Amino acid sequence: MNDIKKLESDLTAKIATADTEAALEELRVGALGKKGVVSEQMKSLGKMSPEERKEMGPALNGLKTRIAEAIETKKATLEEAALDARLASEKVDVTLPVRPEVQGKIHPVSQVTEEIVAIFSAMGFDVAEGPDIEDDFHNFTALNFPSDHPAREMHDTFFFEPKEDGSRMLLRTHTSPVQIRTMMTQKPPIRIIIPGRTFRCDSDQTHTPMFHQVEGLVIDKEANMGHLKGTLEAFVKTYFEIDDVKTRFRPHFFPFTEPSAEMDIGYERVGNEIRFGQGSDWMEILGCGMVHENVLKNCGLDPDEYQGFAWGMGVDRLAMLKYGIPDLRDFFAADARWLEHYGFDPLDQPNLATGLSR
Ligand code: DAH
Repeated sequence: MNDIKKLESDLTAKIATADTEAALEELRVGALGKKGVVSEQMKSLGKMSPEERKEMGPALNGLKTRIAEAIETKKATLEEAALDARLASEKVDVTLPVRPEVQGKIHPVSQVTEEIVAIFSAMGFDVAEGPDIEDDFHNFTALNFPSDHPAREMHDTFFFEPKEDGSRMLLRTHTSPVQIRTMMTQKPPIRIIIPGRTFRCDSDQTHTPMFHQVEGLVIDKEANMGHLKGTLEAFVKTYFEIDDVKTRFRPHFFPFTEPSAEMDIGYERVGNEIRFGQGSDWMEILGCGMVHENVLKNCGLDPDEYQGFAWGMGVDRLAMLKYGIPDLRDFFAADARWLEHYGFDPLDQPNLATGLSR
């Protein structure tokens, strides 16, 4: 009996002075592990006489429970202390000036998105956003994609598992569903741009399964194709930072616009370099058109009262063109050397007053 008391006070003292979680674990194994001192004592119960066992059984069980509890309590204290120490050692003083050697870079996609937002904000556009996970209605149906129309397949959509009612959610294939969300909830006049992530099952030098678009939408009583051209021409001049950019609108098809067009800008290739502005070659940079009357109706707007224009463009592609980045897949490879080379200074926010890119 006295042995047990002695053992308990020894163990309790050792637990109290254990100063690391590892030391405590060693104590636990030494006491309560398979070959631990307490466990060995428990094994000896089998060899005792019934009277002895009646006395020693409860005593040993009590010892075992108290030691286990003491270890648990100490463990919690040590964990808390370790966390406190870690928090203290990892403290960051955000008031210190930035050290250039640890300063990160802004990804070209973020930079170009900011540039585009700056340009359209100056023209009076608001920024709207919507969910990455969409339903068929917002991504296709409301945008006047007929059911079973090949255009739905064209988008190489990522679908989720069907729900019980058979409907499937999807990863939005373009930012156009946010047009629908906006028109259904806001009264015109509407003037928005919609930056965001988009998804299609595609991968090569110029396609990645996740990419970025900026959509534009203007709805008003008299918004017309001339306004569309003026807006987009002003945009490309400011974005590419050249005054005389040649543009051309080529007829195209999109289900959600009528008429629809693609806008090309003039360029010439000098060696490895692409020079925008003049030249005899054309590069497609965005899709656009007058919002289809069915789309207006689907959003509860009267096409006899309202009309509007819209466009959609690839942010990643605009970044590649402006900053001479050859492979889109590198954008998402999380390679620090790539970001060091192509990234932007976080303290240089794009704005029209100081020049977009410096
Ligand atoms: N949603 C189209 C796409 O991803 C791009 C687009 C074209 C958007 C014309 C528009 C538009 O708003 O009017 O291919």
